Amino acid sequence: MSTTPSAARPRVFSGVQPTSTLHIGNYVGALRQWVEQQHEGDNLFCVVDLHALTVPEEIDPEGLREAVRSVAALYFAVGIEPDKNTVFVQSHVREHTELTWLLNCVTPLGWLYRMTQFKAKSEGRESVGTGLLDYPVLMAADILLYDTDRVPVGDDQVQHIELTRDLATRFNHLFGETFKLPKAVLPRFGARIMGLDDPEVKMSKSIAAKVDGHAINLLDDEKRVRKAVMAAVTDSGRELRFEHASPGVRNLLAIYQALTGRPMPEIEAELEGAGYGQLKKAVVGVVMDTLTPLQQRYREFMDDRAELDRLLADGAERAAAIAARTMERVRAAMGVG
Ligand code: TYM
Repeated sequence: MSTTPSAARPRVFSGVQPTSTLHIGNYVGALRQWVEQQHEGDNLFCVVDLHALTVPEEIDPEGLREAVRSVAALYFAVGIEPDKNTVFVQSHVREHTELTWLLNCVTPLGWLYRMTQFKAKSEGRESVGTGLLDYPVLMAADILLYDTDRVPVGDDQVQHIELTRDLATRFNHLFGETFKLPKAVLPRFGARIMGLDDPEVKMSKSIAAKVDGHAINLLDDEKRVRKAVMAAVTDSGRELRFEHASPGVRNLLAIYQALTGRPMPEIEAELEGAGYGQLKKAVVGVVMDTLTPLQQRYREFMDDRAELDRLLADGAERAAAIAARTMERVRAAMGVG
């Protein structure tokens, strides 16, 4: 079977949270990397629904099930081939939660309080749930459960992968060699796309859900994309060289570069003498070239629910077989089970 691990093919694991719709940052930071590298590795791509439960007031059970399907359909729509990759839903493989508990017991609290994403997400909240703090341990469990070599992600997840390595090292030290140490893999372009409305903050799903014009969502139609891009914050100048441009203009150039894959000097030469309006039009063009076929395939997958559910059940079965083997090792090392 094409998903059988082999010494020559690195094990790849990555995931996206099913919270509202995905944006162009998720696409260039994660999904597109997965597609580009799908023939090099033995890949597992997961819809991490358990990660979407960390703020209890925001849990919408029906909405969550629908978001899980929608994100899975997007994985296939961007070009992840179902027969070459294992695509599954995190909560369908129970070992993720079991390993989280075992890892919790070797995780110093201080390591979790240091996570910048925890600091940002807990700031200003009256009460912070244990799940929000523990989130990176669940992520470590996702990765370590599959003896992962490579984790293709955007820049904001690097700290969590460093924590995963630290946890694996600590566990191996305490209980004997059990886990492999994974590495983060970042895209060549677009590891950190910024908000269109505010180029000082990362484009994020949670802001996009509240603020129109913050993000380009993968399911947006041309009218919405045009509106968001044309209103993107720039400055009053005309500087179109990446090195010298202001943050908003750099972000638009970065999106253009990430979606065309062309070298920046070539893009700068093309846009020489043009104004920001022309840059924005060019960005709308490449965004729609990407989104139009993607949305068409997305609708096909969403229209055939039975097939989508079948693909996910099949993925869960394959993932569970690997997870079960790892858990035998982990339980034996800790003296449980
Ligand atoms: P999530 O759902 O926030 O984001 C999914 C992926 O998109 C990348 N990303 C970005 N890349 C570039 N620019 C941006 N503005 C941008 N915003 C998001 C993220 O880096 C990520 O790769 N904790 C993870 C999900 C997760 C996971 C895992 C990932 C759970 N378990 C195991 C890898 C391995 C998260 O919340 O991603």
